[in-house]
Formats: sequence, structure tokens, C-alpha cells
Amino acid sequence: MAPLRPLHLSGGRAEMHASTFSYSITRPYPFRWFTPVVFLGCVVFLAVFSIINYISTGYQMVVVQSSNPNATIQDNPWMRHWPSFFTSKVQPTCETVNLALGSEWFTNQTALTYTLTDVWQPDDGGAGAGYGVAPSLTYSSNLIEDCRVNSVEIDYAAMDRTAIQMAYSPFGAVVRTYTTCSIIGVNGTTSFNLTNEYDYVPSDLSFSGLYTFLGTNFLSRNQTSKSSLWWGESLMSMYWAFSNAKMQIIADNQTSYKQPAIRKGTLYFYPNDDSQTTNMTDPSFFECDFRFVVDKGQGAYDFLMPTTYGEYRQYTSLSNLIASEAYPNIWQEADVLAKTAYSTVLTDLGQVNAPSNILTDPGLLSYFTANFSETRHSIANAYPGPADQRYGTMNSGPLGTTPSVMSAKYLCQIPQRKPAGILFWSIAVADLVFLQALWFLFRFVVDTLFLRRHPERNYCEGCMEQPRTTSNMYRESSPGPGSRYSKEDPELEMGGLRPSARSTEFRRSGSQSRSVSQQRLIPTESIDIGGRQHGY
Ligand SMILES: *[C@@H]1O[C@H](CO)[C@@H](O)[C@H](O)[C@H]1NC(C)=O
Ligand SMILES: *[C@@H]1O[C@H](CO)[C@@H](O)[C@H](O)[C@H]1NC(C)=O
Ligand SMILES: *[C@@H]1O[C@H](CO)[C@@H](O)[C@H](O)[C@H]1NC(C)=O
Ligand SMILES: *[C@@H]1O[C@H](CO)[C@@H](O)[C@H](O)[C@H]1NC(C)=O
Ligand SMILES: *[C@@H]1O[C@H](CO)[C@@H](O)[C@H](O)[C@H]1NC(C)=O
Ligand SMILES: *[C@@H]1O[C@H](CO)[C@@H](O)[C@H](O)[C@H]1NC(C)=O
Ligand SMILES: *[C@@H]1O[C@H](CO)[C@@H](O)[C@H](O)[C@H]1NC(C)=O
Ligand SMILES: *[C@@H]1O[C@H](CO)[C@@H](O)[C@H](O)[C@H]1NC(C)=O
Repeated sequence: MAPLRPLHLSGGRAEMHASTFSYSITRPYPFRWFTPVVFLGCVVFLAVFSIINYISTGYQMVVVQSSNPNATIQDNPWMRHWPSFFTSKVQPTCETVNLALGSEWFTNQTALTYTLTDVWQPDDGGAGAGYGVAPSLTYSSNLIEDCRVNSVEIDYAAMDRTAIQMAYSPFGAVVRTYTTCSIIGVNGTTSFNLTNEYDYVPSDLSFSGLYTFLGTNFLSRNQTSKSSLWWGESLMSMYWAFSNAKMQIIADNQTSYKQPAIRKGTLYFYPNDDSQTTNMTDPSFFECDFRFVVDKGQGAYDFLMPTTYGEYRQYTSLSNLIASEAYPNIWQEADVLAKTAYSTVLTDLGQVNAPSNILTDPGLLSYFTANFSETRHSIANAYPGPADQRYGTMNSGPLGTTPSVMSAKYLCQIPQRKPAGILFWSIAVADLVFLQALWFLFRFVVDTLFLRRHPERNYCEGCMEQPRTTSNMYRESSPGPGSRYSKEDPELEMGGLRPSARSTEFRRSGSQSRSVSQQRLIPTESIDIGGRQHGY
């Protein structure tokens, strides 16, 4: 109680203190519609602002790795239907990858591995044409298109292989496939050359695989879902083993007859553009150039080449070589190996429209696997597989291929919703700012449109009627609202009227209200005295 005493003692004088800060005297809006409009507007705009704030600030970009950028971008469909001026900052994007020359890659069929050897933009390649040779391939999950196998080369060799390789197979072969493909990217067509190298018994092979299927070169296999490639692997390894065994038989025969034997040789198969044949059973599908090295001893050697047998043009014709059984007679086996490599590469690169492909045609596959059970017995110690019987006798899925893309990891930026707490906080703050601005605007509009035309609405309720009834008004008002004014001070009462002080109406009634204030002195004083008595 003690601290209250000075207040009561000083009475009305304490209420007279004027702080540095002031408050404005308010009046309820005199419109029936005002409250419902404000409440409805508040709810509607709160919802609108919350949605807008949610879209524009509710998401943040996070970096993820993706192997399928197109799917990652399409994963956020609802974001794309909003106007871009809201969401341009939160649209998912994926960076392209750069495949440098010489880099190795594989397709999403996960079979063979390729080396990128050339990249260029062809002259008729669209927007970016004529840029010529490029140091790398800018890639963004584009479909591999228009592939053409330029050539297949088979390199047979005996002595230069490692001892482990010779234990698997005295002769070995490296099958190289040279292909040109293109992609259609944002800057038009880009073409590139790629090379695949296939050696069923590579130099880094462990000895532990002896007499088993080795499963080299192919990254994965599936008998049912990737049946064509499964047969491609079987054909390649089978004819790799078979043709090498044949090379060995031929060399052994030469040695037993005390003749110089072939130590190594290369065969270069290229599509026969003259005959235009697309029937792969036809021996003239490929032309074949070749060199064989005959070891004559004491460092001397001979070359066998098409001109050894006759005219060059005649002895690059495979049908002629097969028919004449030219030495060394491995033409048929090497031809099947080359055609198999050709088909496997086209299948792996997803060339669904390739005119000829052993692996997607059941008839061709039956033809080329017809001798599987016999060839299986004419091999060295590297066992081929996974299929060892002809097509039709083994369970495998449907033949065919799907379009391919290069396997790569892309860095993608995708929108992710902020944590709920932070999201609520930022939306609440933004909503408050917007609602406050809206409230300010709304009041400004209402004041301008409705109140400025009626200046009397700026007066306090009591004063509004004063100009009309002077003396009556005084008596009626003094016990009522008038008594709220603390004391006699006319300035204080005028303070509430300050907005209208400059209005003409006030000036007209200025003298009257001053006199009213003076008349008030007595009743208010008495109230004050009463209050003081009450306080004691
Ligand atoms: C490889 O990717 C392409 C394009 O996305 C797709 O159409 C095809 O089915 C995929 N192939 C495999 C074997 O996943
Ligand atoms: C992925 O998107 C790129 C660019 O939009 C396009 O060029 C490419 O063909 C698409 N890839 C697939 C598999 O649809
Ligand atoms: C497309 O070409 C322009 C030059 O015309 C180049 O600046 C841009 O990087 C190229 N884009 C791609 C993806 O290669
Ligand atoms: C791509 O390979 C083909 C056939 O091997 C060749 O003719 C062409 O010159 C190569 N492209 C480049 C740019 O080297
Ligand atoms: C082969 O693919 C099928 C279908 O995709 C799958 O169910 C099966 O497990 C796969 N087999 C192997 C050995 O991966
Ligand atoms: C073995 O070599 C001899 C002499 O060179 C030849 O006449 C014979 O046809 C060869 N036999 C085989 C199966 O290659
Ligand atoms: C391919 O040639 C073989 C015989 O050489 C024939 O039996 C087969 O019908 C031909 N295939 C096509 C598609 O012409
Ligand atoms: C299968 O063997 C027969 C008889 O030896 C032969 O005529 C045929 O060309 C062989 N087929 C293949 C694809 O090597």
C-alpha cells in the first residue's frame, strides 16, 4: 500500500504528467460491414499470403546425385505448374557431364565398356555445327543414336601373351570394334567415335578361373531380362575360344610337318558397301583385309596378305576366302566372331532399328548358335559361356533391346521443403508483414473514401452534437463520457479533437466549445474532489 500513497496524495496532478510518448484516441468505425469485411479479408488474405509465401520461400535447393536426370527433373511436376516468376529459383536442374577423350564409359545396359576416341560436330549438325573437333563430349542423358560399326578387328597372337593367358589358351585374340554414334543435344548433333576392346582372357585374369566360365568384359548379365546380350556374350566367348583353338591346331599341324608356323595375325572386317547385303548369314556381309606373321626362325618372318593368294580385290572377299579354304583356314570362325561383336555392340548401344543384328533376330540366332555343342568340345582351357547349347534349347527371355544412354552420375539441384519449424516461422513472419501492410492500406482507403467526406466523424462522440445543443448537451454529457477527461484543462480535451481543429466546422463552433470547456470547470472539479474524498 505504501508505494501507492504518493499517487493518491498528489491526486489529479499525477495524471497530468505528459510522457514523451503519446497514444491516439480511437473511435469505432461507424460501418456495419467493417468487422465482417476485416475478418473475412483477414482469413482470405492469410490463406493467400501463406500459399504464396510457401511457394516462394518454403523450398530450398539441395544437391543430389542422380543417374537419371530427366526423371529427377520430372519428379517435381507440381512445381512446374506454378508461374515461373515464383518458382524459377526452385526449379530442379541437372548439370551436364563432360566425357573427356579417352575416358571409359558403359551404357545403362551395363554390358561392354567403351573408350571415347573422337568428338566432333558434323557440318550439318544444327545450331552449333562447324565447331569441329571437341576435347570432350557434353552429355546429359541423351539417347545414343545412328550408330554404325565401321570395322571389327581381330588380333590373334601366341607367344606375346602372358603365361597365364597361354595356360588358358595358347592362342589368344583381342577383338576391337570401332563405332561412330551421335547424340542430339541442345546444340544440335554431336558425333563421336568409340572403341570397344574384347579379350575373353585378358592379361590381368586370375588363374583361379581355369575350366570355368570366366564372365569377363561384360559388366552384368541376365538370362531373362537381357536375353539378347546374354546370347551375345555366349557367342563372343564361344567363337573367341573356338577360333583360337583352330589357330592352335593349324600352327601345331605346321610344326608337325616342319613348316614355319603363324605366330600372330590380324583380320580387319569392314561392312561390304558394294553388295549392300543386310543378311548376316551371307559371307559377303563383311569384307576382310588381313596380315599374318609367319615365323621362319632366326628372326626371319613372312607376311601373308590378300596379294599372297592373288588379286587383292578377290582375296578380301570373305566368300572367296572361305570357298578357297585359304591358309590359315579360320575365316568362317573369325567371321562369326566379328559378326557377333558387331551385333553385341549394336545391341548394347540400344540400336533398336539396326538393319541387321544376330541378337535380336531369332532366326539368325538359331543359325549362328547351331554348332554350339560341337564347338564347345574344340576349345582350350578357357571355358566359354554362359550358354553352351544352341538357341531354343535353353531358357532365356525374349530377344530385343531398348534405347541406351551412357551411364553417368549427374549433380542435380532439387527443391526440398524446409524443416517444418523453420517453414512455420518464416511464413508466419512474412504473413505478419503482409497483413500489416494490407491493414494499413485498407484503413487508408476506408478513411479516404468514407471518412474524409464526413469530417464530423472525426469528432469524439460527445463533441459531435455540441454545435447543435449547447447548454443541454453540457448537462447531459458531464456525468457521462465528459467525466472521463481527467480535469478542467481545456487543452487536454482539445487534444482529442486535434484532427478537426483545422476543420471549418470546428472554427465555426470554436467559441462555443471554449465556453463549454470553461463551464465544465466546476463539475469536473467537484468530481475530482469527490474522488479525493473517496481515496481517503
Ligand atoms: C536405358 O535408358 C533408356 C532411356 O532412359 C530407357 O529407355 C531404357 O529402357 C534403359 N535401358 C535399360 C536396360 O535400363
Ligand atoms: C533427357 O533430356 C534431354 C534434354 O532435355 C534430352 O535431350 C534427352 O533426349 C532426354 N533423354 C531421354 C532418355 O529422354
Ligand atoms: C552451345 O553452344 C554455345 C555456343 O554457341 C556454347 O556457349 C554452349 O556452352 C553450348 N552448350 C552446350 C551444352 O554445349
Ligand atoms: C571416326 O571413325 C571413323 C572410322 O574409323 C573415321 O573415318 C573418322 O575419321 C573418325 N572421326 C574422327 C573425327 O577422327
Ligand atoms: C534378371 O532380371 C529379372 C527381371 O528384372 C530379375 O527378377 C532377376 O532377379 C534377374 N536375375 C539376376 C540373376 O539378376
Ligand atoms: C597340315 O599341314 C599340311 C602341310 O602344310 C597340309 O597339307 C594339311 O592340309 C594340314 N592339315 C590341316 C588339318 O590343316
Ligand atoms: C539370308 O540368307 C539365307 C541363306 O543365305 C536365307 O535362308 C535367308 O532367308 C536370308 N534371310 C533374309 C532375311 O533374307
Ligand atoms: C556349323 O557347322 C556346319 C557343318 O560343319 C557348317 O556348314 C556351318 O557353316 C556351321 N555354322 C556356323 C555358323 O559356323
